[in-house]
Amino acid sequence: MATRDVSLFDPIDVGRYRLSNHLVMAAMTRNRSPNEIPGDLNALYYGQRATAGLIVAESTAISEQGLGWRESPGIYSSAQVAGWRRVTDAVHAGRGHTFLQLWHCGRCTHPDWRPGNTQPVAPSAIRSIGGMTVGGAWSQHAEPRALELDEIPGVVAQYRQATTNALAAGFDGVEVHAGNGYMIDQFLQDASNQRADRYGGSIENRCRILWEVLDAVVGVAGADRVGIHISPTNVHHGISDSDPEKLFAVVADGLNGYGLAYLNVVEGATDPTEKEIPFDWARLRRRYRGVYVANNNYDRARALEAVRTGRADMVSFGRLYIANPDLAERFRRDAPLNPLNGPYIIAEGSTGYTDYPSLGN
Ligand SMILES: Cc1cc2nc3c(=O)[nH]c(=O)nc-3n(C[C@H](O)[C@H](O)[C@H](O)COP(=O)(O)O)c2cc1C
Repeated sequence: MATRDVSLFDPIDVGRYRLSNHLVMAAMTRNRSPNEIPGDLNALYYGQRATAGLIVAESTAISEQGLGWRESPGIYSSAQVAGWRRVTDAVHAGRGHTFLQLWHCGRCTHPDWRPGNTQPVAPSAIRSIGGMTVGGAWSQHAEPRALELDEIPGVVAQYRQATTNALAAGFDGVEVHAGNGYMIDQFLQDASNQRADRYGGSIENRCRILWEVLDAVVGVAGADRVGIHISPTNVHHGISDSDPEKLFAVVADGLNGYGLAYLNVVEGATDPTEKEIPFDWARLRRRYRGVYVANNNYDRARALEAVRTGRADMVSFGRLYIANPDLAERFRRDAPLNPLNGPYIIAEGSTGYTDYPSLGN
């Protein structure tokens, strides 16, 4: 494969920013925001990772309706905006850049896990096969109710307001979460969308909410401060499509018209127990004309190769960034990596969160 004179460790221009390297810290839920408000502990965690070219801060509820579960943060109250300001200040103090991942969980929740105990909403009244462990016991997502046609503009408006709030909190931009089986993905993929109106049926109809959300978000932030996250074959939460190659070719073509800061693609299933669906990732990469960020099971060697050959413009790392706050420097020196402290990935407090050592301390 052809190579380029560009390295993972070089600066790169993304949207309106010059990032210090080609590494992205992927969005990761850590459930450490009591009352859904981020605070000093979260600021310390993200600030420790500021040497990533870009930090995508974890899935953050755009509204109470979009909140999947308690202790994951939101961006719909002034207290949350103030809390996130501490995080963005910490990242900027480390000369880093950070985008906030805008999240509406759609059907992937349960009334018991939400303030107000409201029933989840989704494109169609089809229950997710996923769930989560609450109070030590596993519990399935509840059956959602289908959004009424006249409720959809309200959902789009939540994304618009969340973007305004994220910028007020000091974020450099936002990432629209259109993957992993959450709300927008539920519209895109046909197993979860059986609507008979203009938001369901054809691929064009299933993509409609994505374009409306992007129009709203871009209208606030400008395309050069907006990224997007898709996961075409991540069968997470029972999400799937009868023809993902065709669907995501249409998505890529539509995205080309926006000139966004970047497209983050989860290449395959993130859960090794899930089935792998064949998909031509290199073709999607070629089809998309902007900055392509590759994700899922990348390590140092694969990332160096991907950037050198042009297979990706940037690489995003999830689990490696949990355990290695200075991942960019460790990769640069080819230094050993810290192991992941598994039981503390989703937990309370600083253990397994802010206590991973950097080189030299
Ligand atoms: C603890 C944990 C939380 C995650 N939370 C999110 C999230 O909030 N938003 C998201 O888009 N992906 C989330 N992911 C998926 C990661 O962003 C990433 O796609 C996945 O870990 C694969 O990358 P990796 O092999 O580098 O870890 C999460 C993954 C982990 C391990």
